[in-house]
Amino acid sequence: MSVKTVLTGVKPTGEIHLGNYLGAIKPAIEMSLDPNYQNFLFIADYHAFTAVHNPKELHESIYHVACAWLALGVDPNKVIFYRQSDVKAIFEINWILNCMTSKGLMNRAHAYKALVQQNIEEGRAEEDHNIGMGIYSYPILMAADILSFDADFIPVGKDQVQHIEIARDIAQRINHHFGDVLKLPEAMVPKAGHSLVGLDGRKMSKSYGNTIPLFLPEKKLQKLINRITTDSTPPEAPKDPAQSNIFDIYSAMATSQEIEQLRDRYQAGISWGEAKAVLFEKVNSLVAGPRAKYDELINNKKFIDDVLNEGAKKANGKAEQVLSRLRSAIGISH
Ligand code: TRP
Repeated sequence: MSVKTVLTGVKPTGEIHLGNYLGAIKPAIEMSLDPNYQNFLFIADYHAFTAVHNPKELHESIYHVACAWLALGVDPNKVIFYRQSDVKAIFEINWILNCMTSKGLMNRAHAYKALVQQNIEEGRAEEDHNIGMGIYSYPILMAADILSFDADFIPVGKDQVQHIEIARDIAQRINHHFGDVLKLPEAMVPKAGHSLVGLDGRKMSKSYGNTIPLFLPEKKLQKLINRITTDSTPPEAPKDPAQSNIFDIYSAMATSQEIEQLRDRYQAGISWGEAKAVLFEKVNSLVAGPRAKYDELINNKKFIDDVLNEGAKKANGKAEQVLSRLRSAIGISH
């Protein structure tokens, strides 16, 4: 059986939290260790630039993400780990794709349509108010990320599936015109697990400000967990695990035996303080190793750069092949 290519892009925006780790990073790292797949993993820095125009913030986010993934177990000997911006062929391919994409296809992209809708709802005279061309053509750059490596599978959340379909559409159009030049990618969508709840009981999300950042110092982590919203049930009263965000977060990390033990304690009556202490121990034991590694690496930018540069060399090798195939197919080669 031939080894299939799996490609994962990570947009560097903001601080990585427990929900990101359990929902996306952990499964991606597990898959990257599977010998049936060759994994490409990259930091989509030029995708972040469609929205982040603060140089310091962008720079820090890039190193934060790179360092976090390394600390969490990415093995650069197995995974081709690189920065998007280091692979120039992607941007040349991006232009070729641009010229073969109809504007109508971009008009139908969900993310763009949502921004237009928002402008309409806010009663703006111009429905494209404040929408940059980077946001508008975001799906084409994403198609270039994917098609540049002949990727077979793209693990994505539901919100990104349309982008994979757009990449397929563009590739099909090119293949139709110029012969079989591009590989058609497929989305790999995880079974709908339920998403992690945050400190306030809503979905854990940066936009709600209710996250548990992964690399907080231990004391701060403890303080944050102590801030989880609970009700005023007295300590000794039995509590319903199904109504408790502490229990929910714990369940996402614990073994089934541990979960049952905590369930029994809830039924017997556990104080919220004790329940929070149990959760803190669990989260802390999960993050202690990666946190130490993160703290060590984040001040060693040279190491991170070296790893990413090595990855970029391998990624460039592959993307250059695809680019030259495309250039000859379209008539641009020498
Ligand atoms: N758009 C993706 C996100 O917001 C990030 C991304 C950019 C990506 N290029 C990609 C993901 C290519 C998969 C493949 O999460």
